[in-house]
Amino acid sequence: MVSTSDRGSWGSRAGFVLAAAGSAVGLGNLWSFPSQVGQGGGAVFVVVYLACVLLICLPIMLAELAVGRAAQLDPVASIRVLSPNSRWWLVGLLGVLAGAGILSFYSVIAGWSLAYIWFAGTGSVTGDADAIGAFFTRFTANGPVNVGLTFVILGLTATVLIGGVRSGIERVTKLMMPALISLLLILAIRAVSLPGAVAGLSYYLKPDFSRLFDPTVINAALGQAFFSLSLGMGAMLTYGSYLDRKESLITAAGWVVLLDTGMALLAGFIIFPSGFSIPGFDPSESGPGLIFVVLPRLFAELPSGHLFGGAFFMLLTLAAVTSTISLLEVPVAYVIDTHRWSRPRAVLLVATVVFLLAIPSALGNGAVNFLSKLPMVGMSFLDLMATLWNNFALPLGGFLIAIFVGRAWGVKHALAEIERQDTWLTGRALWSFLIRWVCPVAIAMIIVYTVMSM
Ligand code: PHE
Repeated sequence: MVSTSDRGSWGSRAGFVLAAAGSAVGLGNLWSFPSQVGQGGGAVFVVVYLACVLLICLPIMLAELAVGRAAQLDPVASIRVLSPNSRWWLVGLLGVLAGAGILSFYSVIAGWSLAYIWFAGTGSVTGDADAIGAFFTRFTANGPVNVGLTFVILGLTATVLIGGVRSGIERVTKLMMPALISLLLILAIRAVSLPGAVAGLSYYLKPDFSRLFDPTVINAALGQAFFSLSLGMGAMLTYGSYLDRKESLITAAGWVVLLDTGMALLAGFIIFPSGFSIPGFDPSESGPGLIFVVLPRLFAELPSGHLFGGAFFMLLTLAAVTSTISLLEVPVAYVIDTHRWSRPRAVLLVATVVFLLAIPSALGNGAVNFLSKLPMVGMSFLDLMATLWNNFALPLGGFLIAIFVGRAWGVKHALAEIERQDTWLTGRALWSFLIRWVCPVAIAMIIVYTVMSM
């Protein structure tokens, strides 16, 4: 087994919170959340999403951090140490696979954001809404460019990871987070003062409760909450394994959830008011292109808009890379801890496998017809990957982690780890109830309900 000092650890609590928030905040908040709200019917999606975050995801976040810090190893080895002679380690393995699977499509979209730094910064996306939409369609259909951009994103991620936990991950995130929050606030203030913003705000904030029990809304909201908070696949578990025993897990989890949810909600305050200020805008139709089509219109409304545009996509790319880092770190930590490879070798191996897996997602947006609309499922390869991993694999991982912590390892041990620094009397009964009953039952019901209504 590799000793703790070889694995690396966080420089400070703020460093950990920023790095974990860096994992959580990414394309999930700014790219996926608004388009899911659009497809899920507006404010009703937001309501269901917030319920999933508070009742299901926050307790699971604490559980993952507790497992990671108690065992101080990768997801597979951690679970093996806490529950020897059982098959629970397979849950860790599911996370290792999910990390690679999610990264394979995530890096393609991060590549779009990278290209848009140039497009928005030089003012090359201009014209009316149709022209901007056509530009996006033409760009994503360019196979070689998309494969190349994906390669650059994975290369960048691999380079940071070879640098190790503290010097790599922590330093990048520390600079990026405050800059991103400030820029989002500026953009939100401009967006809500556009003509037409009121219609956008009411779409975003006034729920249509008739869709409250729509299985697609509930399943998408649950998947989105797991995806956005980096849960259900061992990313938080792995980050928790680098956390010092002196730190409070409750404070850390609270901050990560607050920052991540705040950023997603803020993204909605930018996208919907600006979207509705465009004549003929239909949020349910835009899909994955939403931010790439709506935001260039917003930048055109700002003085020196191309500077804001360039800065926005630069920060979005950085936010995406702090997430790709955590996605890659899960399989890498597994190869290091369980198979005892050196860090550089492990990073190169995993990054190469993910790159090969990413190629069909990069070519499936117009470059290759078959991959752009797969027979039988009728969606693109990228959309299929996103749905399978986000809406099914992550909630399943969360379900299994809840059962593992609530019943196999046991809430008593988990609470001992959580309460190492905190005396937490009122919350402990509530958390135990949520992790033992509410999380598994709710997730199981949502998955069964979704599969039955397909
Ligand atoms: N939470 C990240 C985002 O919102 C994506 C992610 C998912 C990262 C799972 C790690 C693990 O962009």
